[in-house]
Amino acid sequence: MKISVIGCGYLGSVHAASLASVGHDVVGIDVDTAKVNALSRGRSPIFEPDLPESLVTGIDARRLRFSTEMADAREAEVHFIAVGTPQSAGSSSADMSFVDRAFSDVLPQVTEGDLVVGKSTVPVGTAERFREAVEARGAHLVWNPEFLREGFAVKDTIEPDRLVYGVTDGDEYAVEKLNEVYATAIEAGSPVIVTDFATAELVKVSANAFLATKISFINAMAEIAEVTGADVTKLADAIGYDKRIGRKFLNAGVGFGGGCLPKDIRAFTARAEELGRGESVAFLKEVDAINLRRRERVVELVTEELGGSVFQKKVAVLGLAFKPNSDDVRDSPALDVAVRLNGLGANVVATDPQAMKNARQLHPQLVYGSTEEALADADAVVVVTEWPEYKDLDPATVHRVVRTPIVVDARNCLDADAWADAGWEYAGLGRQVKNGRRAN
Ligand code: UDX
Repeated sequence: MKISVIGCGYLGSVHAASLASVGHDVVGIDVDTAKVNALSRGRSPIFEPDLPESLVTGIDARRLRFSTEMADAREAEVHFIAVGTPQSAGSSSADMSFVDRAFSDVLPQVTEGDLVVGKSTVPVGTAERFREAVEARGAHLVWNPEFLREGFAVKDTIEPDRLVYGVTDGDEYAVEKLNEVYATAIEAGSPVIVTDFATAELVKVSANAFLATKISFINAMAEIAEVTGADVTKLADAIGYDKRIGRKFLNAGVGFGGGCLPKDIRAFTARAEELGRGESVAFLKEVDAINLRRRERVVELVTEELGGSVFQKKVAVLGLAFKPNSDDVRDSPALDVAVRLNGLGANVVATDPQAMKNARQLHPQLVYGSTEEALADADAVVVVTEWPEYKDLDPATVHRVVRTPIVVDARNCLDADAWADAGWEYAGLGRQVKNGRRAN
């Protein structure tokens, strides 16, 4: 099928490349010339495993191209809206200007029988606003939220856990046409849920709200563990064996960040308040607050471990991305911790396998370096993103290069006993400090 994807960011670039990889003829359209030029040469503007290969294969097979011209959407029969809905400046609601503009720009190119498919995460009620304008073109509107995780985006797009289509009641045409677009995923077993616009929009925000709540729940337990001597990692293992609870998304640590969870729970709260149902999701404010408190706790732990002040102490901050296998620093707890420590006068040297470029753009005041440069003569080491290379660090080897063997494991991702045995003072979140300090 001939497909256009409007917006080539984290979502759109992956969606375009993945649809081309399953045989469709795809044009990705974006207003950013530099991004379009890079994508056209098969260069991924983001660090995302499998994306570069997928781009190159699609472009070489002539099934994938990128353009800044909206007129190039004309030939497509299915148009995906995949632009961002970031948090608005100065409020917690979603900034809808990109979605509004994408619709108004693409509609003149839409012809009879086309599908216009919203993929962006939007406040419930958005699709209804566009229905009339889409139908006036003789086209069909579908809301089809995306659930991809960064780091697994290509896989999640090709083999989604589920496909959700929000359609106008009885619009079989739209369902069948979208089934053709996703034929490969459906054949491989992805379930399809057909529903109305409001439900489809809510599925996305409620899924993210649930995940955020699960993480903040275990982080709240970490706060209790810290004052009772309990170990939150053991607690998570134990409650996670209950199949109704499950162990996934129960990793206590510095909390969630990224381009989705934080802004989605805030936008959901703002939308519920607009709808007069603020109290229904009031708990999400607490979820947000617990999450942000964990960042403060990490800074507090480093301060405590350094005897009450970080001033002029060298702190190695390992990790800047909001999670491993990503170069995304949007609302990253790791970057936030580095900035806070730096603000308190610590000599922070921050490092990350992929995210240093993005971090530097946001916070040029920080000192960045290699892992070796960060660790050399450090007074404390803080692991804030659980990249495999940090999890695999050998505590005995690192002990030889730092000034003081203090490690704050803000992701509970290190082997606490191994680090303590190697002579480190080990502090995790929601667990007791293990004191293995030995003379340097
Ligand atoms: C999320 C949703 O998972 C995805 O379905 C949606 O489409 C977009 O938002 P993503 O932002 O890529 O995806 O990251 P995710 O893997 O969900 O992690 C979010 C944050 O939670 C990260 O900062 C991660 O470090 C943190 N996290 C995750 C925890 O702190 N503990 C956990 O147990 C799991």
